[in-house]
Amino acid sequence: MTQAAANSSAVPTISQDRILILDFGSQYSQLIARRVREAGVYSEMYAYDMDEADIRAFNPKGIILSGGPESVTADASPRAPEIVFNLGVPVLGICYGMQTMAAQLGGSVENGLVHEFGRADVTIQAADALFAGIEDEPNKLHVWMSHGDKVNTLPPQFVVSASTPTCPIAAMSDVSRQFFGVQFHPEVTHTNQGEALLKRFVLDICGARGLWTPEHIIDLRIEQLRKQIGLEKVLLGLSGGVDSSVVAALLHRAIGDQLTCVFVDNGLLRLNEGDDVMTMFAGDHGMKVIRANAQERFLSELTGVTDPEAKRKIIGRVFIEVFAEEARKLDGVKFLAQGTIYPDVIESAASKQGKAHVIKSHHNVGGLPDDLDFDLVEPLRDLFKDEVRKLGTTLGLPHAMIYRHPFPGPGLGVRILGEVKQEYADILRRADAIFMEELRRSGWYDKTAQAFAVFQPIKSVGVVGDGRRYAWVIALRAVETVDFMTARFAHLPYDLVEIISNRIMNEIAEVSRVVYDVSSKPPATIEWE
Ligand code: XMP
Repeated sequence: MTQAAANSSAVPTISQDRILILDFGSQYSQLIARRVREAGVYSEMYAYDMDEADIRAFNPKGIILSGGPESVTADASPRAPEIVFNLGVPVLGICYGMQTMAAQLGGSVENGLVHEFGRADVTIQAADALFAGIEDEPNKLHVWMSHGDKVNTLPPQFVVSASTPTCPIAAMSDVSRQFFGVQFHPEVTHTNQGEALLKRFVLDICGARGLWTPEHIIDLRIEQLRKQIGLEKVLLGLSGGVDSSVVAALLHRAIGDQLTCVFVDNGLLRLNEGDDVMTMFAGDHGMKVIRANAQERFLSELTGVTDPEAKRKIIGRVFIEVFAEEARKLDGVKFLAQGTIYPDVIESAASKQGKAHVIKSHHNVGGLPDDLDFDLVEPLRDLFKDEVRKLGTTLGLPHAMIYRHPFPGPGLGVRILGEVKQEYADILRRADAIFMEELRRSGWYDKTAQAFAVFQPIKSVGVVGDGRRYAWVIALRAVETVDFMTARFAHLPYDLVEIISNRIMNEIAEVSRVVYDVSSKPPATIEWE
């Protein structure tokens, strides 16, 4: 059997048509993998110095070389493995990827003569296999550039396919070998036709079939899960968040009652959240879900504790204790399922000297005691968040749950400043529910990345009718962000803020004042803690 034949029988069908992305370290590299997947083609990203044997074994239909922060002209700057150009598959170099392609195939690169950052218009010089029929205006594309170096002379057999006034070789191609280079970034949304160009590359030029759809992914996963698990039992920590919910739905479909979910109610959840999780999973979906009602235990462990780090540690420790106690009550469980997703895998790998795919033991349920020794089941570990969401929707989970704002593990514990008390948690839950209701009603919920109320353990004077009231302060926090590393406070309309603050003060007698947080991150963080 040939190598290719061996691979094609070993690799499951829907990811058989796969694209390899070699990462030179650009901040946009992950986006390339996402865009290719959105085009319906499976892709994986590895560090640029992937072994030749691994590249062959991956058996790609095409290869994309990402951008990167270095200069091709510098000594010892990264190069693509030679096999990339000898495998006989199409290659697309993006930014640094194009420059190293030029340098490695006999062209040259100039250092630091242009500084093109942001939007640019490129003129198409040759409507080759990549560009034919794709344009914003006749022969023009609006693109996103971010480079200081540029290709100066073409490698033999290449032609210029696009240019800008400052960058005469903004794209190049050798159609006979199916090698393409673009100086701009098709993976970012600012490049209008970027998605069309990447689709053109993977579907038409590489000939990959668009098999990577939610329905196919679910079928594949179910088959894989059944094979891995057999007749064994599986335990899952269900939080009600997107990832663990999708894992639950997927596993339930694959192995039914062999799955037991443990949902730890720590008393720091949002209004009705515990009941909602039970109704949805145990009720609507008929799953085996054990609800560990540990509200009082968490609260009593938190009594008198005001330091944010100490609070986090207690919540984490008690969670493990409760989860472990429930796990010990179950007989003969072999597997622990976790909602690890692909960005977790890439990030932990990237932190190990840029070597993608060095697998970390990622424990969402964090260091369980030694007597609980499970094998892991991680059915989402090669999926991006948006793919997980699409899977969830296809599996019948409600939109409102799949597109919910992120909620931190320690829950309201980080949103009640100082000591956590039952009374404070109850007030905060009601205020937060009003805030969310009004955000949803006004359409602002989906326009903000995260929004929540924060309980301030200070009292302030208010006036109600003829009387005065001395009551608590609630802060409203809403942010716009893509990556949660930086964030801008959301510019909610004042009219909306007014409706929310009035409702909170009128409907919750224990609140006399509402403030809106106008801090961005940095220097503030998103949570108040
Ligand atoms: P900060 O407050 O650091 O938050 O700007 C950034 C994002 O992380 C979330 N966050 C957490 N998520 N466990 C989580 O799963 C945690 O302990 C935790 N702490 C903060 C926060 O809600 C925001 O989205």
